[in-house]
Amino acid sequence: MLTTETLTSYHKQSSIKLFQAAKKVIPGGVTANIKNFAPYPIFMKQAHGSKLIDEDNESYIDYSLCYGALITGHGHKRIINKAQEYLTHSGTMIFGTPHALEIELAKRIITLYNGIEQVRFTNSGTEAVILAMRLAVAHTNKNKIAKFEGHYHGGINNMLASINPSKDNAGDEERPNAVFESNGIPEDERENTIVLPFNNLNATETILRENADDLAAVILEPIQGGFIPAQTEFLHGLKKLTDELNIVLIFDEVKTGFRVALGGAQSIYNIKPDLTTLGKVLGGGLPVGAVGGRKDIMMLSAASQDGDVFSVGSKSEKTAGTVFHSGTYNGHPLVMAIGLETLDMLEEHTQMASLFSQTMHLRKSLEKMYASYNIKMQTIGMGSIFNIVFTDQPIHSYRDMWKADIELRQEIDRELLSLGIYLKPLNRYSMSTVHSLADIKFTVKAHEQALNKILNKHNKKQS
Ligand SMILES: Cc1ncc(COP(=O)(O)O)c(C=O)c1O
Repeated sequence: MLTTETLTSYHKQSSIKLFQAAKKVIPGGVTANIKNFAPYPIFMKQAHGSKLIDEDNESYIDYSLCYGALITGHGHKRIINKAQEYLTHSGTMIFGTPHALEIELAKRIITLYNGIEQVRFTNSGTEAVILAMRLAVAHTNKNKIAKFEGHYHGGINNMLASINPSKDNAGDEERPNAVFESNGIPEDERENTIVLPFNNLNATETILRENADDLAAVILEPIQGGFIPAQTEFLHGLKKLTDELNIVLIFDEVKTGFRVALGGAQSIYNIKPDLTTLGKVLGGGLPVGAVGGRKDIMMLSAASQDGDVFSVGSKSEKTAGTVFHSGTYNGHPLVMAIGLETLDMLEEHTQMASLFSQTMHLRKSLEKMYASYNIKMQTIGMGSIFNIVFTDQPIHSYRDMWKADIELRQEIDRELLSLGIYLKPLNRYSMSTVHSLADIKFTVKAHEQALNKILNKHNKKQS
């Protein structure tokens, strides 16, 4: 059982103070609820390479990497130099007009992604998903969107369903309930979301066929949460079904894009989704998102020559046929420059291969260490992302995760925060190109120390 003792196993004086101050002016003390964890989040003030440094000057090997965004680590020299060079050269933060780097980055994405013929940029993965869904509704003239249980697609009303439902609410395994996980979502938006069981083709097919006349799109993380891969037959079957039923297939590759392969999960499965959403790595640490896909669908968002909703005096009914997509900061030149530099770095010949082999080395070393203590533990994932699961049962879906020992994982994660390893408790591990063999060694040792501490504590309690 989790005890208060476990929950307060780290003590970070400055973070306690800052969290108290933050709570006075920011609801709950954090600007994104994901940043919060009990008993209090740790406040960082600097970062270099694979390390974060907190307000008490303690250093951590960072496996969160801003939830996967920082694939070249913190403040890589090339990224910092590019930012300085670009700002000096352009003389401004942003033009507010089209510019050449948008074309360059779009071309690069089109080259790498099977399913992408054209691209629009946004400022976040969330905005990319909003645009993808709007395009799907326009293309099909249908209203509902289906998503999979356990999959996350950003903070969008109709997508905030069944990301992490409890056993009590989740419903039938083959016909999951849509469990909404935010207050403030209008009833009519809830009605337009259908929840599907991941990696279960028969049950998914039944639900899709029943709702085919209403379904504009099926959206999924091809690798759930970045670490539970879709089974190949499942994904190919889903593609066939969506084609047959005139449903737009959206691969949300915000986590997996450039992380499981440069061309994302779609290159591994050899599938062309109708639309793809990207984010995180694409901005090299700056806010970004992108939607790409079939030209006939993407072109629905092309600006109308008759004007737009912003042009005083233009006839708005003439623009009603266009899928609205705009944003003050879309295609931000600095973000495009940093995105391109990040891709340049990743495309250098051995970068991805050595990132993947380092990640596998960490996974195998951790598995070996836990096995030596007879702890049932496995790592699952792909490329540079993985997760640690305390069970020897196979994991293919959100519900399979219920078989794992979550309490042990929570305890380990909290101990690790006192041992110089940073990860939001229970989150996945992301690696960067600058994590070293020494980092890996340190990490495995920290896990062993954490495990010993927990085992001793439990042994003492039993004796
Ligand atoms: C698969 C997926 N889609 C969408 C999003 C939302 O992206 P953002 O946080 O940039 O809005 C995320 C964020 O973690 C994500 O993992």
